[in-house]
Amino acid sequence: MGNCCGTNISSDSTSPSGYARRKGVAGLSASASSSRVSAASVSVPPIPRSEGEILQSANVRGFTFNELRAATRNFRPDSVLGEGGFGSVFKGWIDENTFAPARPGTGMVIAVKKLNQDGFQGHREWLAEVNYLGQLSHPNLVKLVGYCLEDEQRLLVYEFMPRGSLENHLFRRGSHFQPLSWNLRMKVALGAAKGLAFLHSDRATVIYRDFKTSNVLLDSSYNAKLSDFGLAKDGPTGDKSHVSTRVMGTYGYAAPEYLATGHLTAKSDVYSFGVVLLEMLSGRRALDKNRPCGEHNLVEWARPYLTNKRRIFHILDARLGEQYSLAGAQKAAALALQCLSGDSRNRPSMEKVVATLEQLQDAKEPSQLQRKLSGRGNGNRSRSSWRSEATPPANGGRSAHPSQP
Ligand SMILES: Nc1ncnc2c1ncn2[C@@H]1O[C@H](COP(=O)(O)OP(=O)(O)OP(=O)(O)O)[C@@H](O)[C@H]1O
Ligand SMILES: [Mg+2]
Repeated sequence: MGNCCGTNISSDSTSPSGYARRKGVAGLSASASSSRVSAASVSVPPIPRSEGEILQSANVRGFTFNELRAATRNFRPDSVLGEGGFGSVFKGWIDENTFAPARPGTGMVIAVKKLNQDGFQGHREWLAEVNYLGQLSHPNLVKLVGYCLEDEQRLLVYEFMPRGSLENHLFRRGSHFQPLSWNLRMKVALGAAKGLAFLHSDRATVIYRDFKTSNVLLDSSYNAKLSDFGLAKDGPTGDKSHVSTRVMGTYGYAAPEYLATGHLTAKSDVYSFGVVLLEMLSGRRALDKNRPCGEHNLVEWARPYLTNKRRIFHILDARLGEQYSLAGAQKAAALALQCLSGDSRNRPSMEKVVATLEQLQDAKEPSQLQRKLSGRGNGNRSRSSWRSEATPPANGGRSAHPSQP
């Protein structure tokens, strides 16, 4: 990292096979890349079970392409919920008992992700998704309803998440997306943390590897659910401390030691969680080239403020007004800082993160003391000047989710 203005490279250029079609590794500057390229080129062990075994044991339904075409009204452009590197996501309807296509507005609402037909990595991620979500079930993981595998077609069918992604709620502007309140941010953070804690627990031992705001989906009550298990990996077994893998992930979220060595641990997810928590506190994107040089990389920019209890107001999203208490904000910022520790051993487990966030739920109104302290802690700076600094840029997202009340 270091130089925010340096050219980032994507894992495409480090990949011996060109598999890494859609994800970029986070923040490797061009000058720093050479020593890391070889470490990042460790070959990826295959998914341990065969495709047939995965599809047979998955606790989900196999759909035909025609069924999903009918359920989405021929993948109508106006039913696109969003677009990612994998392909487009469409809204559709099926009968809740028979799973047959249903008329719009009737039966069960689904989200259908349709893979762009471009190669092996897409198939691999599609299969990993069926493998993990077909077996794992938890209130904070999105439910996979089924899949379609037909000739070149690869689709995934999920429960519909009416409030879309956390990314849209944090960064999208417009009347549909009002800024999330402090309490809702803390609720979403807790839900997402519970999802990761479950994955890391003995019940799953999975490393998620792609934790970011677009992969945190929200139901109508803002319960957070993790989606996108295309990059997930089984955690280390026996006395192994890590899994060796080619570096994949998303710019801005991957842990530094993972970028440097390809050694993946559950603590890599904890780092990514710290980045997302920081995005939630600040209303800023992990990487934002539209900001002045020195502020492109959120973690680098925010770290000095996070280390000082009295300076954290500099990084808090001004759209939060005074909804949070001083103690609550300091605790959340301290948690983000811990998750972002350079030494992965100093990062908390996701279980500890959950425990801390549980204490932060429904924090009450800020006190007079907060206002006094915030004034003192920031010298002559007024809150309104932070407000203008913290306004996020418009984003080019394409999702069509309903608004928050
Ligand atoms: N189950 C769902 N219910 C409602 N909306 C969804 C659902 N799944 C995905 N979406 C919407 O579609 C968008 C695209 O999702 P997708 O997972 O394909 O890409 P992404 O997460 O934005 O990026 P990437 O491909 O890098 O993971 C999401 O950001 C979200 O707005
Ligand atoms: Mg996603």
